[in-house]
Amino acid sequence: MLRKHYAGKGEGPLPGLRKVRTAVIPVAGLGTRFLPITKSVPKELLPVLSRPTLHLICEEILSAGIRNVVLVSSPSKGALEDYISPKRVLREHLRKAGKDELLAGWKRSLGRLSFRVVYQRRPRGLGHAVLQAARAVKGAPFALLLPDEIFFHAPGEQTGLAKLVHLHEREEALATIAVKKVPAADVSRYGIVRPAGAARPGRPMLAAGMVEKPETRAAPSRYAIIGRYVIDPAVFGELRRARPGAGGEIQLTDALDSLCRKGKVLATEVPGVRFDTGVPLGLVKANLYAAWQNPRHRTELKALLHTLEKSARQGHR
Ligand code: G1P
Repeated sequence: MLRKHYAGKGEGPLPGLRKVRTAVIPVAGLGTRFLPITKSVPKELLPVLSRPTLHLICEEILSAGIRNVVLVSSPSKGALEDYISPKRVLREHLRKAGKDELLAGWKRSLGRLSFRVVYQRRPRGLGHAVLQAARAVKGAPFALLLPDEIFFHAPGEQTGLAKLVHLHEREEALATIAVKKVPAADVSRYGIVRPAGAARPGRPMLAAGMVEKPETRAAPSRYAIIGRYVIDPAVFGELRRARPGAGGEIQLTDALDSLCRKGKVLATEVPGVRFDTGVPLGLVKANLYAAWQNPRHRTELKALLHTLEKSARQGHR
């Protein structure tokens, strides 16, 4: 059953405004976990094989039928703006060199997106970053993708973001959030959702609240927020009122926790294989996984793994 949250006279959304047409990607972070490379290369441009993680995120956005992207960036990360801009010189070079397939590839992916860049000039937390996108999302629900988390899907499989968008629009929720059950020892690394009732595996759950990076014994569940959200613009009001939370930062989780008391906030598990590419080893794992999907690379990877195992057995490092 649907529960509408626009109750008061004159508060109703304009037709079409309930559709999710914009995605926000916060990319202003300094990437200290990847120093020294991040002195000159933004971490969102570090690659999985030949494509930067930012590119993979953009493809996920396309999979959900969204065409407008707001990058919340930092003036010091101009390389990101270079990456999303069509390069006339490069286009001409590819055309002359007869590499039309490369050109067509661009047109099928990032070339279909329309980008807008806004700046977060001081690192004051994820909630503060999201608030910088308030004007750009134009009063409509928006998707939010944290680029430290990337997902791989089998061909034809619905992406997690597409699932969130569908659920959010159908249920007219205030927020719809992707979660994953994590080991108790890991809860303090995430925002954790408090389900309103007994969670049924594989079914969306109503959230009664959520807490950012709780201690293990204080965690309301083991359902961790994994970097994909669809959110109503009502969150901006909560963010403007928000006080610094965990780590002294303006936390998105705190604003979403407030929304739980104002309407329907849903949490759901999503399809796909997930990697935390916000740390070097996670990026290595994502690269191995991506390479393994290619049968031509697989044979060489098997040989490498075999060599590693053998040398470990022999006690070499
Ligand atoms: C952020 C969010 C947190 C979420 C996590 C997922 O934390 O604040 O709620 O669980 O991303 O990656 P961060 O990892 O930026 O500290």
